[in-house]
Amino acid sequence: MPSSVTVYEVGPRDGLQNEPKSIRTDVKVTLINMLTDAGFKAIEATSFVSPKWVPQLGDAKDVMARVRRAPGVQYPVLTPNMQGLTGALASGCREVAVFAAASEAFSKRNINCTVEESLKRFEAVVTAARKEGVAVRGYVSCAVGCPYQGAVEPEAAAAVGAALHGMGCYEVSMADTIGVGTPASMERMLQATLRQVPASALAVHCHDTYGMAIANIASALRMGISVIDSSVAGLGGCPYARGATGNVATEDVLYLLDGYGIRHGIDMDAVLRASEYISGALGRPNGSRVARALLAR
Ligand code: HMG
Ligand code: MG
Repeated sequence: MPSSVTVYEVGPRDGLQNEPKSIRTDVKVTLINMLTDAGFKAIEATSFVSPKWVPQLGDAKDVMARVRRAPGVQYPVLTPNMQGLTGALASGCREVAVFAAASEAFSKRNINCTVEESLKRFEAVVTAARKEGVAVRGYVSCAVGCPYQGAVEPEAAAAVGAALHGMGCYEVSMADTIGVGTPASMERMLQATLRQVPASALAVHCHDTYGMAIANIASALRMGISVIDSSVAGLGGCPYARGATGNVATEDVLYLLDGYGIRHGIDMDAVLRASEYISGALGRPNGSRVARALLAR
């Protein structure tokens, strides 16, 4: 078990990208600012992707212009290609993320190219970003299961993770995009990946569709993974992964970490304020079971 963990907050990006109703830019900015106040060191803020593919994040430039950036905090954004990187650099972003998949079918639906084509594209993005001193994170979507192809071989996920790490991603987040994983499949996938990428360069990104995310994260912690992606109030889902629900809720992850006595540096009360704020703005009940329990006390 690691003694301390980085909780990588993806709510403003992964959490909001799939919302059907348009969310005002100032709501996104307020959410990010509240998350900054809660003590996160990494808050994935938005995506520089095609607004035709993800209309909800079409205001990426405005979000990045208006958000308050605290020293020592990263505000990474997704950049699927050079056009995205150019936009991100122009907005002063100092960390970006590229996102590949362990499944061909998902790659086609999500970014309109094969896995091999995407890796070539990302290599150019990573090289250009690093030349500017900008750090690049990588994602491997569908690392344990794909909405179109079903189960995914651990070696397939490991190979894509190794390719991203090899091209210069400082960290690779292994994602259970549709939340179908169990501790067993998660462990098999991580075992295969750890043969090629060190634990210090790996994160896990669990969606909670089947309610397994916290168990999967506990397994990953036991395997030495010390960066956990999560989303305030359990917001989220991927527009190109039908039926996938939100990411694991940040509050639930913090409660898990507190139970193990693992340091995380996040102020739970401040997260709860952000969580209630965004749930209210979206007009829905808080999606975190831990938040609901703590707020009911
Ligand atoms: P494409 O249609 O093949 O792109 O889409 P293209 O290069 O042929 O360009 C077509 C049009 O898009 C052009 O505009 C470009 O200018 C524009 P037009 O001439 O038609 O007016 N365009 C862009 N506009 C703004 N920013 C850009 C950009 N690039 C092209 N960067 C593309 C390919 C990758 C762009 C598209 O498929 C796309 O944007 N996909 C993004 C999908 C996405 O964001 N999915 C959700 C995030 S991934 C995720 O949630 C998983 C994750 O959470 C981990 C997990 O859980 O698995 C990370
Ligand atoms: Mg995701």
